[in-house]
Amino acid sequence: MNDYRKCDIILPMIYLDNNATTQIAPEVLHAMMPYLEKAYGNPSSVHQAGQEARHAVEEARYQVAEFIGCRPAEILFTSGGTEADNAALMGVLPGRAGKKTIITSGVEHSAVREPLSYLAKQGYRIIEIGVDTSGRLDMPAFRAALADPDVALLSLIWANNETGVVFDIDAVAALAREHRVIFHVDAVQAAGKIPLQFSSRGVDLLSISAHKFHGPKGVGVLAVRRGVAFYPFIRGGPQERDRRGGTENVAGIVGLGAAAARAAGRLADGGNIQRIASLRDKLEAGILRSVPESFVNGDPMSRTCNTTNIGFSSLEAEAILILLNQHEICASAGAACSSGSLEPSHVLKAMGIAEKIAHGSVRFSLSEFTTESEIDQTLHVIPQLIARLRQVLPVGR
Ligand SMILES: Cc1ncc(COP(=O)(O)O)c(C=O)c1O
Repeated sequence: MNDYRKCDIILPMIYLDNNATTQIAPEVLHAMMPYLEKAYGNPSSVHQAGQEARHAVEEARYQVAEFIGCRPAEILFTSGGTEADNAALMGVLPGRAGKKTIITSGVEHSAVREPLSYLAKQGYRIIEIGVDTSGRLDMPAFRAALADPDVALLSLIWANNETGVVFDIDAVAALAREHRVIFHVDAVQAAGKIPLQFSSRGVDLLSISAHKFHGPKGVGVLAVRRGVAFYPFIRGGPQERDRRGGTENVAGIVGLGAAAARAAGRLADGGNIQRIASLRDKLEAGILRSVPESFVNGDPMSRTCNTTNIGFSSLEAEAILILLNQHEICASAGAACSSGSLEPSHVLKAMGIAEKIAHGSVRFSLSEFTTESEIDQTLHVIPQLIARLRQVLPVGR
């Protein structure tokens, strides 16, 4: 009975990797527990246990709809951001009357990049719009690409997971509407940081994932605007109004609903966002001041409140991360899924960041649980750590 895998997490640690995933909020966990323990019915069952689960799923749908700013019927629960992104791309293409061109940017998450390279092999033409050295979208190139009548779909990340740079989704949505192109937004890193207001922004599809805003892992949403022809990506049952087969992840969905309600409240009271941004700014300014040859990657004027990506010239990010970890500070080099690779991220490459900076670039991402003393402690550690590494492990680029 007691042979569960033991979890040896060492606490306390300073967790500055919230773009990879966030701590589950205590009230979210509390809301989920009954659906893991006792209320285990299948929402498709007609008996009382099933109906209890059904009720919980539908209540969460309302909470999430409020958070996204859409109708409850426009919500499709998924297994997370990756599935939501895949479903968005694969779900609308069959309804696009043989059009074969898809527009995206050069700085997307792999949850969009990889299905797009699959689609390229199936004969679709993928146009990647570039960004400048601050990570801002090349709008003239964008406008020109949209003028092609063969464009079936446009998919764009809202807030970049590596740099925090925020694209002007309203401007892009206006162009997409003008050209009658379906517009999918990967809002996984925007959710909880920027008001989503799906219906009023003129976006057609939008993906979010609960674990990025203090909800559980393995559950997310694809919002599909009413009237958009959508074909299921996962088939196998009538769930989600025949749009996504599979027994619902009831506890996960309840957690997603609770996290969404919580995030909506915190966004409405701007103080939370401001506090995170001021801690991020303190960290960033402190590093730039105390570490020679350190640079911010990404437009400081248009970034999510919690993210800074800092390049430490002539070093390898992996070495920095290992030493930070020895000081119990968790950070990341670019996307979590690319750690272990010595290649600089495709995002920094697309921005044209010099190799000797890109290789030593580290992402620090905060959350509402980050404290000022954690930032002070990090600022105490980093200058010595970088100086030491530069002595012993300089990279001659
Ligand atoms: C921008 C973006 N899109 C999609 C995903 C994938 O989300 P999930 O981890 O829920 O599959 C992530 C996760 O890091 C992300 O940052």
